[in-house]
Amino acid sequence: MIVSPAALAAALGQFPPTPEQSAVISAPLAPALVVAGAGSGKTETMAGRVVWLVANGHVPRSGILGLTFTRKAAGELSERIRRRLDRLAEFEDAGLLRHLDALHRRGALDVFGELERAGDAGGARRHAAQRRLVDDTGAQTLGPATDALLERPTVSTYNSFADGIVRENAVRIGRDPEAAVLSESAAWLLMRRVVLDSDDERLETRENALRSIIDGALRIARDGVDNLVDFDELARFGAAFQDVRERTFDPQRHHRLRRRGACRRAGRGPAAARRPRRRVPAAQAAIRRHRLLRSGGGCPDDRPRPSGCRH
Ligand SMILES: Nc1ncnc2c1ncn2[C@@H]1O[C@H](COP(=O)(O)OP(=O)(O)O)[C@@H](O)[C@H]1O
Ligand SMILES: [Mg+2]
Repeated sequence: MIVSPAALAAALGQFPPTPEQSAVISAPLAPALVVAGAGSGKTETMAGRVVWLVANGHVPRSGILGLTFTRKAAGELSERIRRRLDRLAEFEDAGLLRHLDALHRRGALDVFGELERAGDAGGARRHAAQRRLVDDTGAQTLGPATDALLERPTVSTYNSFADGIVRENAVRIGRDPEAAVLSESAAWLLMRRVVLDSDDERLETRENALRSIIDGALRIARDGVDNLVDFDELARFGAAFQDVRERTFDPQRHHRLRRRGACRRAGRGPAAARRPRRRVPAAQAAIRRHRLLRSGGGCPDDRPRPSGCRH
């Protein structure tokens, strides 16, 4: 390793990565799955990973492909990667990369974080600080060796990346290469026409505004295609669900089913269901329920769990 994740972050004026982020950033060049919640620093870590791979010569800039589900996420990732790779190029060109770890150890890179937080827009003070480090270390200035402007990582959504592949290869499979994925507004207008042209009588009795029907239809079409749903099967599901909705509520039947279900779960047969229950004080019953739950024996009835029970 030429440069560590922490030294890189300091040189680029970023926060120090956490130990977990560092482990992901400098993981071996092999498939890895990272699971983390919203706002926990995933995008930050991905950008750090890309910069680390490039800085250590594991991957050329043009060898990076970043895919996300939403355009917003692609925009954020792309912006963070672009910004950091541009900064990295400054250190590469000045021949400072291999000195970064040593400089970081003696705090000589802290100035870049301070300048970043102070908003040094033009970068004049940053360049001056870099020149001081070159003098200090005797680094050999390499000049613009990396063609950072031309060599760019590809960052996009899955959909738009796949669209590009189709365009590039469409003629090979006899398709129109000019075919384009519809824009949001074009897709909406097309769906409006589909809804207005539909002879489904149920549409006339619906109370929703036309706009909500179009929005809904578009959502179904889009999610269906994205998830490879069979639309005939989807239509049948609607009919089956309608049947459930139309069933009338019979409180006695409901009560009977509930009792039976509850007794079966507790491992007792129908005879026990008919036998009158022995009366036990409420607290004792609560404790019994709690123990049963803890031992994995199921709930003896479906009353609420005793308070404080975490099972
Ligand atoms: N190691 C860190 N130290 C301080 N702030 C961090 C760190 N990692 C991420 N952040 C900040 O936390 C916020 C959320 O990070 P982000 O990468 O956008 O999360 P996610 O992609 O998981 O939603 C951002 O403002 C980011 O700058
Ligand atoms: Mg993110």
